[in-house]
Amino acid sequence: MTRHFLRDDSITPAEQSGILDLAAELKADRFARKPLEGPQTVAVIFDKSSTRTRVSFAVGIADLGGSPLIISTASSQLGGKETPADTARVLERQVAAIVWRTYAQSGLEQMAEGTSVPVVNALSDDFHPCQLLADLLTIREHKGSTAGRTLTFFGDGQSNMAHSYVLAGAMAGMHVRVAAPASYSPRADIVADAERIAVETGGSVSLISDAREAAAGADVMITDTWVSMGKEEEKQRRIDELGGYKVTAELMSLAADDAIFMHCLPADRGYEVDAEVIDGPQSVIWDEAENRLHAQKALLTWILEQD
Ligand code: CP
Ligand code: NVA
Repeated sequence: MTRHFLRDDSITPAEQSGILDLAAELKADRFARKPLEGPQTVAVIFDKSSTRTRVSFAVGIADLGGSPLIISTASSQLGGKETPADTARVLERQVAAIVWRTYAQSGLEQMAEGTSVPVVNALSDDFHPCQLLADLLTIREHKGSTAGRTLTFFGDGQSNMAHSYVLAGAMAGMHVRVAAPASYSPRADIVADAERIAVETGGSVSLISDAREAAAGADVMITDTWVSMGKEEEKQRRIDELGGYKVTAELMSLAADDAIFMHCLPADRGYEVDAEVIDGPQSVIWDEAENRLHAQKALLTWILEQD
């Protein structure tokens, strides 16, 4: 049966772990798997800007023996001119999978319902599940394992990254803390889904408004831009309301001595994180960015085997 990867919990915790194992194998032996040999084509569609996602999917699809077809929505018939399901019906006769960065999660769901090939979420307003596979791989590399580790996300708790940390972190058995003001709390239904999963994995989810309390003893300190794509008009209000959640050297000093700092990038130094932290010795952001390649290759390899 065709599997889609629309949100972090589109896969089971065991499947997540298996994909991360495969990602590590592909990192060690980059050209070991060729599921797209032919070459078969994968469509990678962007409604929003991207550097890392565009490059890592294009390079990864080529590494897997395939051919990437990068489509900008502005120059296609998507985006109000044609439904996602109609676009998918056209693509599915020619491509092995569809990867899509978009706004509303509902568009991804419509596309997945309308097609027989796997659909992968390359970031929506609600989730960034491919980034989380890369982040969990990075945590495994630097901390040895994910289960039982404490991860704190600071800032916009309603962002795609916060939601994905809550879900995917709980799936990986992590203790996920979201440090945000009450008005930026993660969506209640997503927290409830994560809490159900955490019962099975031994993880947990905590919403903490005090940044210092949320930092105490954390193994992984994470933030993301305060102004996600599509929120540009709220920039000043967000800077005013989230200023107390900036990751500073002082906040890092409250975390575990061997804590790592992560950020999916792009970053606004001086806003959500100080330069001395993101460019300092505890930062693992370049490994994290590289791991997009290995994690997505593993995801595509796994998802193509499910058909
Ligand atoms: N982290 C991430 O998805 O980066 P891009 O927006 O550059 O793809
Ligand atoms: N939260 C950010 C992530 C960018 C990779 C955004 O949606 O703009």
